[in-house]
Amino acid sequence: MKKSTTDGFFETQTEKSFVKSIIVTEFFKVYFSIINHAGFSDDIYYIDLFSGPGKYKDGTYSTPLLLLDTVASFKADDIRNKLHLIFNDENEEFYQSLCINISQHPVVSQLKHPPIIQNLRASEVNLSQYLSGKKPKFSFIDPWGYIDVSAEQIGELVKSIGSDCVLFFNSNRILQDLSKDYSQEHMGKIFGDMLPEAVKIQKDACLSQPAKCKRFVSVFAQNLYKTYFEPLRSQGFRLFVLPFSIDQDDVEKTSHHIVFISKNHKAICEMKKIMVKHSNTNSSSLGFDSKDTFTISMFSRSDDIESELKTIIFDMFSCAPRLKDSYHTLAEWLEHIDRFRMSQAYEVTPYTEEELKQCLVKWDANGNGCIDIEKPTGKIRSRITNSRRIKFKDNFGG
Ligand SMILES: C[S@@+](CC[C@H](N)C(=O)[O-])C[C@H]1O[C@@H](n2cnc3c(N)ncnc32)[C@H](O)[C@@H]1O
Repeated sequence: MKKSTTDGFFETQTEKSFVKSIIVTEFFKVYFSIINHAGFSDDIYYIDLFSGPGKYKDGTYSTPLLLLDTVASFKADDIRNKLHLIFNDENEEFYQSLCINISQHPVVSQLKHPPIIQNLRASEVNLSQYLSGKKPKFSFIDPWGYIDVSAEQIGELVKSIGSDCVLFFNSNRILQDLSKDYSQEHMGKIFGDMLPEAVKIQKDACLSQPAKCKRFVSVFAQNLYKTYFEPLRSQGFRLFVLPFSIDQDDVEKTSHHIVFISKNHKAICEMKKIMVKHSNTNSSSLGFDSKDTFTISMFSRSDDIESELKTIIFDMFSCAPRLKDSYHTLAEWLEHIDRFRMSQAYEVTPYTEEELKQCLVKWDANGNGCIDIEKPTGKIRSRITNSRRIKFKDNFGG
């Protein structure tokens, strides 16, 4: 009999689960530092609605305990004084193990706010007390399937200041179940009014399985944006979505996506760096394939980036020609590029600021003066730097 995803899930850790946990915990480390430095709140929240028991049966730590290790790794006590940890799992046995495993972690006695651990369905967890006011929160939504995943809940979690979310998006299960009667209610919560578009993608015989899975993420992101963020656009609300694909172990198909959701482009840039580090796909898009663990990602990645970036910048200037007349720093250009990509595809580009810089250095050296530098003063060793404002000239790309 074929093993289901959940059979023996907590026996030993798979490489895919390791990649997921490391992405979450490495980002959390950066997240806390940025939010703490911003200083707008003395209470910072970590909300994990599908926690599991915290450990695999062989003793390996899974995300909840790895997160506690991360909390312990900070030298300064700020994190232990400010962090509120909220864990939840609907499974009674996992909940009991989680309570024990958390209580036995050495950092717990140093926390000002004892962790809150609940045994509820994710949709039943009362989040209202964490949503109001300035309550920065990093949420982790990691179900086995797609039940109890809702764009509305994710929208609420990400909406308040300094709030980001990592979502395990089970693209392949969605592909399999999208048209089934019993799944309609759940799919409605994920895709909202965009559900017919998702069904169209599922039925499109011209699209490959990975292409369909990728499109589902963007239809979900489109629903999230249109329903919960576009109405708040005049208040300065933005939405950025960064997907990381995970392939199936035995075939060239997508298993799921780890989707990072944020309103803040700096957070997106930080997560890109972490995802690039753990990506091993043969293209510039970010992802992990356990069949390709020996691939050295950076070699193949850089080959594609230059031409892809040139195309996207070109397209951006044809849609927003006035942008071409302005000077911006590298970080500002990357934000413009990512905003443009969001408006077209409901996902940001997979490129980091450093990768954009490398391309600009090349274009500047080979491109017949296609890059202009604002006020280059004194003797300049490298023209393109992170702080210097630059402009693309009319002959860019020509
Ligand atoms: C993929 S595992 C979580 C793994 C964990 N996040 C980690 O990284 O170690 C999914 C967990 O969600 C729990 N679960 C499934 N459906 C749920 C629901 N509707 N609400 C809350 N928890 C649920 C399962 O009991 C299981 O422990």
